[in-house]
Amino acid sequence: MKGNHCKTFIFLAMASFSFSASSFADENKKPEEVQAGVQIETGKKLFNNSCKHCHAITYEDSVIGAPGLRSVLERHDEAWLNEWLKSPETFAQNDVVARDLIDANPFGLAMPTLPIMQDEANRKAIIEYLKTLK
Ligand code: HEC
Repeated sequence: MKGNHCKTFIFLAMASFSFSASSFADENKKPEEVQAGVQIETGKKLFNNSCKHCHAITYEDSVIGAPGLRSVLERHDEAWLNEWLKSPETFAQNDVVARDLIDANPFGLAMPTLPIMQDEANRKAIIEYLKTLK
């Protein structure tokens, strides 16, 4: 048992060393730019795994009526997106725009509440990625 703890500690120490070493490699960027870059990369991965099978990135709606997400931040602000991503159905109980969006879908398939979007850091990362879809 003791030996395993020790191995875990060494692994974590190495992982955090290589993480900070790679952040310093971006010497021309400010820390907040590096941080935003990491969030965008994380958001892109999350999007590809959890959203892309329903959503296109272009303006066109997909076959199931999920809107294309290009320029989505011109349609909704960050606070709105944060609530929508947490749970579209719960949000729509109090928000008219969300309710109308669900009601306007002619295919009857609503966006589900996704377990992965219950994590605030994941929502933030996805929103940073959505900002890049211009
Ligand atoms: C099962 C299919 C499905 C999945 C998975 C899904 N969505 Fe949706 N999404 C929809 C549908 C359908 C709508 C349209 C509203 C409705 O009918 O619920 C929508 C609406 C949206 C909107 C509002 C778009 C606008 O133009 O107003 C955003 C933003 C959004 N989804 C983001 C996401 C993100 C980010 C993910 C991944 C974390 C995701 N969705 C996963 C089906 C999906």
